[in-house]
Amino acid sequence: MPEKELIVVGELNVDLILNNIDGFPKIGTEILADDMNLTLGSSSAIMAANAAAMGVDTTFCGKVGNDMFGEVVLKELKNKNVCTDHISSSDTHQTGITIVMSYAEDRANVTYCGAMELLTIDDIPWEDIKNFKHFHLSNFFIQKGIRKDITTIFKKVKEAGITTSLDLQWDPENKWDFDYRECLPYVDVFMPNEAEIMALTRTSSVDEALEAVKPFANTIALKMGAKGSVGIEDDTQMEVSSFTNPKHIDSIGAGDSFNSGFIKKYIGGGSLQECLTYGNLMGALNTTAAGGTGAFNSPEEIEQKVKSIFNVAI
Ligand SMILES: Nc1ncnc2c1ncn2[C@@H]1O[C@H](COP(=O)(O)OP(=O)(O)O)[C@@H](O)[C@H]1O
Ligand SMILES: [Mg+2]
Repeated sequence: MPEKELIVVGELNVDLILNNIDGFPKIGTEILADDMNLTLGSSSAIMAANAAAMGVDTTFCGKVGNDMFGEVVLKELKNKNVCTDHISSSDTHQTGITIVMSYAEDRANVTYCGAMELLTIDDIPWEDIKNFKHFHLSNFFIQKGIRKDITTIFKKVKEAGITTSLDLQWDPENKWDFDYRECLPYVDVFMPNEAEIMALTRTSSVDEALEAVKPFANTIALKMGAKGSVGIEDDTQMEVSSFTNPKHIDSIGAGDSFNSGFIKKYIGGGSLQECLTYGNLMGALNTTAAGGTGAFNSPEEIEQKVKSIFNVAI
């Protein structure tokens, strides 16, 4: 029996978030921000950190630079109880960073990918992989070193006898060069949101997109923001409503927290309905605090917050 529960393979970066900015930046001028935060960024790291905070035994495989931001990433992950033994540092590339210019209605992001682009199939600890119960990969399009081998990676992981999940995330180049017909048969749980699945399949409705993907997918967990989520497995399709958050702060990382919750239940052998419901609950909890990890510290605190905010016993 595997001793360890979850391995997450993905990108690592810090987020430098500028708030209360006095207008929009213009070339040749300078404007001021009233507030700044340096936090753990990247969807894969948020998924791993929150799964660990929910009590899942979690290991991360990724790459940072040999620099101060790399130290910030490692420290934050260790603080959240994520095993960092399979994170390596590059001497040639610096740690990735996203500069987030946050305005009331929306955000403008600039990302430097850096060391995350160097992660390849050879960095995955193949010798160790059979000791995990589940493998999750996130943010496919921005990981140039992983992209070309994506089907081989999932095929090899399945051959090791463990379960798998994939969250592609958005393609910043909007090319959607991912062969879902070839890869999804090796993915146990495919976890897109509505915009992503339509862009990937070049369709204009979610129903058409699901029809295009279904013949190749195993379980699909479709995220639908404040509406909740839909699960598809064999001939079953079910919709599970979201939990209403009375004090919405922001939705940064909600999809990653949904993934953490869903996969926690999936590893534990939960039914599709249980996985979707717990995913929705963790997605909603994510929206009660700023950023992607603010609401997730320990299983005890999560239990208490879920009881007081949503009146749900877990
Ligand atoms: N405003 C919200 N209120 C309640 N739950 C939410 C809200 N936004 C997101 N969620 C929950 O989080 C999940 C993931 O969020 P979503 O925004 O769909 O993902 P992504 O970040 O990948 O686009 C949703 O399926 C839902 O369960
Ligand atoms: Mg997402």
